[in-house]
Amino acid sequence: MQIMKYNFDEKVNRRGTGSMKWDAGDFLKMVGITERYDEETLPLFTADMDLPVPDPVIKALHKIVDNRIFGYTMANDDYYEAIINWFKRRNDWDIKKEEIVYCPGTVKALGIAVRAYTNVGDGVIIQRPVYPPFTSAIEDNNRVVINNSLINNDGYYTIDFEDFEAKAKVASTKLFILCNPHNPSGRIFSKAELKRLAQICYNNDVIIVADEIHGDLIRKDNKFYPIVKCADKVDHLVTCTAINKTFNVAGLHATNVVIGNEDLRNKFKKECGYEMPSPFTIAALIAAYNEGEEWLDQIIDYIDGNIDYIENFLKENMPKVKVVKPEGTYIMWMDFRGYGLTPEEVKKRIYVDANVILESGAMFGEEGTGYERICVPSPRPMIKEAMERIAKVFEDLK
Ligand SMILES: Cc1ncc(COP(=O)(O)O)c(C=O)c1O
Repeated sequence: MQIMKYNFDEKVNRRGTGSMKWDAGDFLKMVGITERYDEETLPLFTADMDLPVPDPVIKALHKIVDNRIFGYTMANDDYYEAIINWFKRRNDWDIKKEEIVYCPGTVKALGIAVRAYTNVGDGVIIQRPVYPPFTSAIEDNNRVVINNSLINNDGYYTIDFEDFEAKAKVASTKLFILCNPHNPSGRIFSKAELKRLAQICYNNDVIIVADEIHGDLIRKDNKFYPIVKCADKVDHLVTCTAINKTFNVAGLHATNVVIGNEDLRNKFKKECGYEMPSPFTIAALIAAYNEGEEWLDQIIDYIDGNIDYIENFLKENMPKVKVVKPEGTYIMWMDFRGYGLTPEEVKKRIYVDANVILESGAMFGEEGTGYERICVPSPRPMIKEAMERIAKVFEDLK
């Protein structure tokens, strides 16, 4: 079979498409992320790719468009089979059709899970620094954040199990939202770590919602294990899967929550209401999972290349910035504290002087103060330009 070779160096213009990354300047200014946003701005903040999706997905979407009718659609057998086969093939995970619940977005699914599995005032464990919507999913629903901070070992993050267990034991703690692979640290938790987390939660009647939507985007030499494949008991596990990140289709809101336990599934469904994927979502998912692996291999190679480039660039040009190669995700978590500047000073140099937008570490919890998160799935020339611009505005402190 002929292999299609993608050219990810090509820049695809996203301005004028309503892109959150490329067209949201006014919004970003309003929420205080940046004071500057213009035609020269390089936005490397939000976690989607500036890289084109697999060709089979484009073809499948064209087919839907060409049919000219976009009525109500329901997940069909092909949709479920594509999911089931993907996880069997890649993670040796057996999923049954009835365990899959479509939900239009993972962040939405987290809020639903919080409401479905806890009461107002209950505690929900998260591990900061962590993707900010984990906090909002809890606080916006009037539940209490129980923070089990990750231990920062020179940029390599590990779990404080003693603290985790103590917090899981508290009677009002009902839920743990796990992020694996972890955003922003890039950790992929090991089988042993996941087994231990699952066991502690099981022993203490804490349900786990595992956000595993970065699970396909891992470095070439790493292995990702879904928590259900590591735990001895799985009845308390709810897993969010998605093609949103893997195949760069976040705008299609293609999240599927896998819930083996019938009671937990029914509670989730009740809170979620009956959601139907769009015809585009169905077509994209089937094409991506059935025919997207060749593209995925290439995109992982390309992202690995960007990560290597940034690592080397920092070593050579900005040695005071520390970064640990992420095991998974396409996110790098850069420690700027070596400059001895305040986070505001760092931010001004990057966001205003260099005109590059990242995400400041404190947004991920106070543990992130002094860090900047960069998302790297963009054409390498863009990444190079961003890094060169950033280096230039720190040159005086080299
Ligand atoms: C860990 C994690 N969960 C959820 C999301 C958002 O997912 P969705 O677009 O499916 O809501 C992101 C996006 O960056 C993420 O990193």
